[in-house]
Amino acid sequence: MSKSAILVTGGAGYIGSHVVRQLGVSGERVVVLDNLVKGFRQAVTTGDLVVGDVGDYPLVSRLLAEYQVDTVMHFAAHISVAESVANPLKYYGNNTCGTRALLQACAEANVKHFVFSSSAAVYGVPVDGYADETSPTNPINAYGTSKLMSEWMLRDVAAVNPLRYVALRYFNVAGAHPGGQIGHSTIGSHLLTKVACEALVGKRPHVSVFGSDYPTPDGTGVRDYLHIEDLAAAHLDALVYLRGGGRSAALNVGYGHGYSVREVLAMVESVAGKSLNIREEPRRAGDPAYLVARADRVRQELGWRPRYDDLQAIVSSSVAWEHKLLKEPWT
Ligand code: WQD
Repeated sequence: MSKSAILVTGGAGYIGSHVVRQLGVSGERVVVLDNLVKGFRQAVTTGDLVVGDVGDYPLVSRLLAEYQVDTVMHFAAHISVAESVANPLKYYGNNTCGTRALLQACAEANVKHFVFSSSAAVYGVPVDGYADETSPTNPINAYGTSKLMSEWMLRDVAAVNPLRYVALRYFNVAGAHPGGQIGHSTIGSHLLTKVACEALVGKRPHVSVFGSDYPTPDGTGVRDYLHIEDLAAAHLDALVYLRGGGRSAALNVGYGHGYSVREVLAMVESVAGKSLNIREEPRRAGDPAYLVARADRVRQELGWRPRYDDLQAIVSSSVAWEHKLLKEPWT
């Protein structure tokens, strides 16, 4: 009998593909469900790719049965804070309703383990800019609310089904696989490091600094930038934890310190050895000044041990990937 597979939704996207790569290296059997609206076939480095939507309940039910899935890792979602403010129903439709359909199929198929891609955005504007898992969850944008609502559904489904879950509340993910196999390839991404790298290689005319009047040391927004490979490793740690009988939990994933927009852009210029065309612009709706993790529990409970907690390493991997993508574009 073939080994049970892990279903990875959104596994052709930025974060999902880095987790899929590590699952493959660990010898796991993987099936990826991705609609390829933002993802790329080339990003899937192991297992099978099924093109479809996570909200397609009959398709998901068929995949769970066909691959004897006992674990689901759920990444498929829209992730732009700014877009979610302008178009909230797009986020509640895709992120929250999509997760509801997925959970219905999982409950009916007796899926045992569920790892969920949640976000620090569930905290909104934490007091003093730091959030731990006991911080109030008051999201200030529909992206954060859509993720929090999905966590609540997970909690309620797990209360009356054998399913146990780990919701990982990511802080700001950045970087690329250091070996250059995959990276951040999303077209039209709003994320700072991706925008800066695209400006560096001429794909964008400039980088905007959204707000320089925040109550921060240099006036620009501060975030806890987390290397994608460390974040991916946290998902494999969550898998081991759940397989070992671990109780359901929502855990922060971050390094516990932040960098400002200006510091990140200065690092991009330093790594690249060239200047960026930087434009000061007004604040962006839905942005808190500070958002930095208190992330002791992910270390204590999952045994997470970051290996890349270094802004230069993060930025260098992003810059290298952007140059590779320029030479060998993904379509
Ligand atoms: C970071 C900082 C901006 C772009 C993201 C994702 C969200 C979640 C957390 C996983 C802010 C500033 C940005 C630019 C800028 N990920 N900025 N110019 O909004 O913190 O959240 O990570 O759950 O999915 O949206 O990330 O990179 O957009 O912004 O000045 O062109 O950079 O104001 O201070 P954000 P971001």
